[in-house]
Amino acid sequence: MRITFLVDNLPHPTLPLLTEHGLSMYIDQITPNSSLLTPNSILCDMGASGAFIKNAKALGIDLNASNWAFLSHGHADHTGGLGCFLAQHAHLPVYASKRIATTQYFSSRPLKTRINESITPNSSLLTPNSPRNIGPDLNLFCGHTPWFKPIEQSQWLTPIIAMVFPTCSNYPTPLGNKYLFLGESTNRPIDNVLMTEWNNRLTPNSSLLTPNFLSAGTVRKTSAGSVKDDFLHEIALAFVTPKGLVIVSSCSHKGALNTIQSCMDFTGCNALYAYVGGLHLVDNEQVEEETMAFIKDWMQLYPQAHLYTGHCTCAKAASLLQQHLPLCKIFYTGYQFVF
Ligand SMILES: [Fe+2]
Ligand SMILES: [Fe+2]
Repeated sequence: MRITFLVDNLPHPTLPLLTEHGLSMYIDQITPNSSLLTPNSILCDMGASGAFIKNAKALGIDLNASNWAFLSHGHADHTGGLGCFLAQHAHLPVYASKRIATTQYFSSRPLKTRINESITPNSSLLTPNSPRNIGPDLNLFCGHTPWFKPIEQSQWLTPIIAMVFPTCSNYPTPLGNKYLFLGESTNRPIDNVLMTEWNNRLTPNSSLLTPNFLSAGTVRKTSAGSVKDDFLHEIALAFVTPKGLVIVSSCSHKGALNTIQSCMDFTGCNALYAYVGGLHLVDNEQVEEETMAFIKDWMQLYPQAHLYTGHCTCAKAASLLQQHLPLCKIFYTGYQFVF
């Protein structure tokens, strides 16, 4: 099994690959003895733009060879490249939570902590703390979408690959989740303006690096205030390998330890070999304390397991993890490892 990071927040140290606040991974060579009937390569997430497609080409990876694609959750740093992907690979099934097709998502994280993140075209109009839309482009889900395979509950894709909704709540969830909210989708009906935009997307050179329009929407409100994101749209991939479970969870909004336990419960495999993904330990005044608490739990529960992290694991957290966990590695754009 091999994982290649097609795009991540961190640049490759030498190769001129595109970098963005986003994540996309290509997972292949899943089983040594594959057949056409056994999916042996998966595209997991599509970054914030079409950058992952360009990087895949530069790395010699043919996305046409993937058996299927998967979106871990609805945030635009993982779904922003979907339009670009569909323009070239609409024949491939894309698995994702049913919820990402109908819901918008918002972030109120202060702009000063979001330097280098992909900013929406109208972001300059926002005040630093006003919620910004970080949801998927819902227009892509309008009309006939044979590529979309909506998932409503944990399920096996093959006898060794499961898509798992993290339902365990025994462990803490990331403090950075406090900035994230659900939104009401206000999909525009298909009209001439929308069709023109859509057609522009399908041209070979349509703005590959900048999502050129996002669905409109507003933060969902009740009498109690803005509705917090419940992350019911988040799904992890669990691979049952001879060495134990390999879990891929792009942002771990439900908490990495909850995600691991949920994958173990669903698959029945209680040995963790590796956890791969961002931990959503985002830069804030409590991140040091939060990371040290995570490290303590990890060492108690999974001292022998590998941890590959990056993306939404901030530099301060990454440095602590590397200091205290001998089997922790930080990934970056173009990073590749083989189990
Ligand atoms: Fe996220
Ligand atoms: Fe993310």
